[in-house]
Amino acid sequence: MGTPWSHRFAYRTATVKSSAIRELLKLTQRQEVISFAGGLPAPDVFPVARFEQACQRVLEQHGPQALQYSTTEGYLPLREMIAQHLRRYGILATPDNVLLTSGSQQALDLIAKLLINRGDRVLVEAPTYLGALQAFNVFGPDYVTVPVDDDGLRTDLLEDALRAGPKFMYILPNFQNPSGVTLSLQRREELVYLSDKYGVPIVEDDPYGQLRYEGQHLPPLVVLDRENLRRDDGYALGNVIYLSTFSKTLAPGLRLGWIVAPQEVIAKLVQLKQGADLHTSTFVQMVAYEVARDGFLDEHVKTIRHVYGERRDLMLDALAEFFPAEVTWTHPHGGLFLWVTMPEGADGNQLLKEAIREDVAFVPGDCFFPKEGDGLRNFRLNFSNATPVQIREGIRRLSVALKAQVGKCELVMA
Ligand SMILES: Cc1ncc(COP(=O)(O)O)c(C=O)c1O
Repeated sequence: MGTPWSHRFAYRTATVKSSAIRELLKLTQRQEVISFAGGLPAPDVFPVARFEQACQRVLEQHGPQALQYSTTEGYLPLREMIAQHLRRYGILATPDNVLLTSGSQQALDLIAKLLINRGDRVLVEAPTYLGALQAFNVFGPDYVTVPVDDDGLRTDLLEDALRAGPKFMYILPNFQNPSGVTLSLQRREELVYLSDKYGVPIVEDDPYGQLRYEGQHLPPLVVLDRENLRRDDGYALGNVIYLSTFSKTLAPGLRLGWIVAPQEVIAKLVQLKQGADLHTSTFVQMVAYEVARDGFLDEHVKTIRHVYGERRDLMLDALAEFFPAEVTWTHPHGGLFLWVTMPEGADGNQLLKEAIREDVAFVPGDCFFPKEGDGLRNFRLNFSNATPVQIREGIRRLSVALKAQVGKCELVMA
């Protein structure tokens, strides 16, 4: 018998764990299950016809170029389009500050490679994006966590955390995944002030910023960055690395995201990306450019805002109608998710097992915390993917499992 493969795996794989949740969520693939689990856009809003035309046009007009290897930085017209789009939000980047990646997920992996030595501290929000923890974990960081409330990261607790000397902060200012909360303007200002005071850079992950259904747009951290504000050459992207993606505005199947950073950072990331995949698909970048151009993306984002805004409202109404009084939830101003808090003693993993029996699914809260045992009484609900009819029925089904779970914890407390 040969040596088991696991003996050959590199040490760094020890921190990468398969999750029990993924196994459970496999059960939710059944047709009859209403899933609020994934962060999936609504398939009915994908602009399929526009993609069809774009593919044809790319092949007709630039066939050989589209099928050839290309530069690691990415397709120049697309980088120009992104830089122009960013200017609208006050981010004065040039195409040289933009690196196209195979989704934001690759951006997180490249940034982890760039910045994390084993044992380095990384400051994350609690809760935070699960995929970022997965990307970072491979490089063996220690986490410093700062909780979020309805106004986002608790900046009143940030200074103590910064004294622990983290290498960087990973921050989701808009409609955070998983909690749906948005960092207030005052806290954004406090955050960039403290980032500057302690010399700790920020990785600002912003896949959802354009998907706002109520309230006013708030300036990105990269614009408020004090390092930038001090300079007389405009926003030169001093202390913040900014990430975004086409996954939520066009289609996640494209696997197309981008990093905006000072040129020194981009140059190093380009070398790392060469080792990972040489470059992001030329064809995909050219098709995305063709789809997005001439104002189409702006129009399409308006449609998505309308559809998802309605679904958010429907879910909020259904929660108010069906969920027991002891349970609370966030009121997201945009994005794809909201976050539910059950009474002390309730267990989201236990609830999921019961919910699957009722043919409904969600993601239990503990996945979104680096420390084991945190977030047990929370869970995340996605409101973009299910249809309006499914949303109401799914929340009704979930309330059946939830009432049983809340009832149990009342018994334990008694
Ligand atoms: C906060 C956050 N960052 C990054 C990603 C990864 O997105 P992409 O599809 O661009 O890889 C997601 C996807 O859900 C996300 O929620």
